[in-house]
Amino acid sequence: MTAFIEGRSVDAQQKNELINRAVTVRQFAHAPYSKYQVGAALLTKSGKIYSGCNVENASYGLAICAERTAIVKAVSEGERVVEAIAVATADGGTPCGACRQFLAEFCGSDATVIVYDTQANSEVEFTLGQLLPNAFDLP
Ligand code: THU
Repeated sequence: MTAFIEGRSVDAQQKNELINRAVTVRQFAHAPYSKYQVGAALLTKSGKIYSGCNVENASYGLAICAERTAIVKAVSEGERVVEAIAVATADGGTPCGACRQFLAEFCGSDATVIVYDTQANSEVEFTLGQLLPNAFDLP
């Protein structure tokens, strides 16, 4: 059962702030193995922004993605509803399947997912429902 409760829309200024925060936190990525740095920043229903980067490990399978770092930070501060998330990479990579499902726990299918390409300086916007149709959930 998800913790999602209907949220509110996100304005252009908030989207820009999310992108800026995702780009900023990306510099802290610990990615010595893949060399693929990812930053994520999310806006909660309470209006706060939480950010996170990917953190890899010499035991490769232990790596945690940037999106899940940010979600875990938010939830562990008492947040339960994510309105929007921005993800920054050097090539405009979209969130992996695990992160889409992890996000679905705390978002509606109409939540905004902004994918930002730091090299092209371009962004693409999705809804979570577009990225993860028919998400798994318990009754
Ligand atoms: N990664 C993320 O941080 N988010 C994603 O959605 C996809 C992949 C990270 C995990 C790993 O540290 C690196 O990117 C390469 O897979």
